[in-house]
Amino acid sequence: MSLPEFRLTAASATLPAADQKPLRRLHMITWGCQMNVYDSGKMADVLAPLGYGPADGPADADMVILNTCHIRERATDKVFSELGRLRVIKEARAADGKQTILAVAGCVAQAEGAFITERAPYVDIVLGPQTYHRLPEMVARAHRAAGPVIETDFPVEQKFDFLPETAPSQDRAVTAFLTIQEGCDKFCSFCVVPYTRGAEASRPAAAVIAEARHLVSLGAREITLLGQNVNAYHGAGADGRDWGLARLAYALADIPGLDRIRYTTSHPSDMDDALIAAHAEIPALMPFLHLPVQSGSDRILAAMNRRHTADAYRRLIDKLRTTRPDMAFSSDFIIGHPGETTADFDATLQLIRDVGFAQAYSFKYSPRPGTPAAGAPGMVAEAEKDRRLSELQILVREQQDDFNARTVGLEIPVLVTGPGRHAGQIGGRSPYLQAVHMDGPISLAGQIVPVKVDSLMTNSLSATLLNASPRQERASA
Ligand code: 5AD
Ligand code: SF4
Repeated sequence: MSLPEFRLTAASATLPAADQKPLRRLHMITWGCQMNVYDSGKMADVLAPLGYGPADGPADADMVILNTCHIRERATDKVFSELGRLRVIKEARAADGKQTILAVAGCVAQAEGAFITERAPYVDIVLGPQTYHRLPEMVARAHRAAGPVIETDFPVEQKFDFLPETAPSQDRAVTAFLTIQEGCDKFCSFCVVPYTRGAEASRPAAAVIAEARHLVSLGAREITLLGQNVNAYHGAGADGRDWGLARLAYALADIPGLDRIRYTTSHPSDMDDALIAAHAEIPALMPFLHLPVQSGSDRILAAMNRRHTADAYRRLIDKLRTTRPDMAFSSDFIIGHPGETTADFDATLQLIRDVGFAQAYSFKYSPRPGTPAAGAPGMVAEAEKDRRLSELQILVREQQDDFNARTVGLEIPVLVTGPGRHAGQIGGRSPYLQAVHMDGPISLAGQIVPVKVDSLMTNSLSATLLNASPRQERASA
């Protein structure tokens, strides 16, 4: 599963360079996981040949796309309230004789389908995540259509075969995302993903490798492989066999210039021995893994249909740490899944104490219509969920502060991503995804440099550059 929600506007998506005046203007609002950010980039790429370039904001846009996320509570309400604001803009533009195409994409589109245009008839296009390659055709239909265009099928053809390469005019992003797998067959009791993103499907290895090479040619030094259940990856390999994620990681690590590889989000039961071993053998595989456990109680893990026990998770962490001693972990936790007692919650706290996380995300359980847990008995009272959530968050915060404090005084390799907070400063990220700031020339952007961590800031590390010549990656934290 994905990391918590964040929100981006079109400026961050892949759009034609600002110096090419676009024929038509596109504004995108992206909620949710990194996969949605990646998808927004792809939608912009698909629309670029139609002349779409970045708008300054919705009032300036010939087309607005909301790329939505359904993982959180009230996701649908949030979409309708944004649509309400966009309706006013669309009507004002129409009074000036300008057409505005409003599109709703992503998981809310997939889940709600025609209900969106029933409730908001001014929406022109509703498109599910498996149909983005058909967007140009949908736009053409929306231009001439009398009614809304709704595409929420899981088409037989693979959208990845039809999506264009990332446009060469994209920012030369040092860190890039690459979707290798979509959908999920795990059916955790609480989760909408198997319903909104469909069955698990992996891209062929050759297509992934070609896209990675292309991203590197555009300046990427770090690639995060994305998938709802990314370590279930089993794409067709060049040798005619299915490749697992480990095999793919070895092939990607051979790409010159690709120095850091990450993958998210993994399921504990899909961490096979080959992938664990790859962490020892591939220096480019970063020693930081997001491995959601959701609960530390076997009873609740069973009710969640997670297919492993708390001890199996502990053993897995031990194995990974034995394989690569500098490995650090982050996780997701759901608090107050139906049936969770205080004893179950205590087991979760105990698991957190046993493992020691560098970071963790925690969510109060909220029912997703159509999922098994939504109708399950034993709903936990909201006030009790709040109490448990804050107790868990205090513990996780202590562990996170402790992890960050342990990097002070260490020498670590930092990938410089761009300017820092203040003039003369540059910023980057550590192997553990910590933000790092230091004095240095911006000419180092895109390079991995050794730094000494001096102190902890609120959400970042302050460091000193050790020497200006980049060196081979080797984490020492
Ligand atoms: N309620 C609360 N949290 C949820 N998540 C997924 N579905 C729900 C839900 N119904 C959390 C899980 C997942 C993360 C991305 O969101 O912890 O790993
Ligand atoms: Fe959802 Fe579970 Fe699949 Fe993750 S593994 S996407 S939580 S069903």
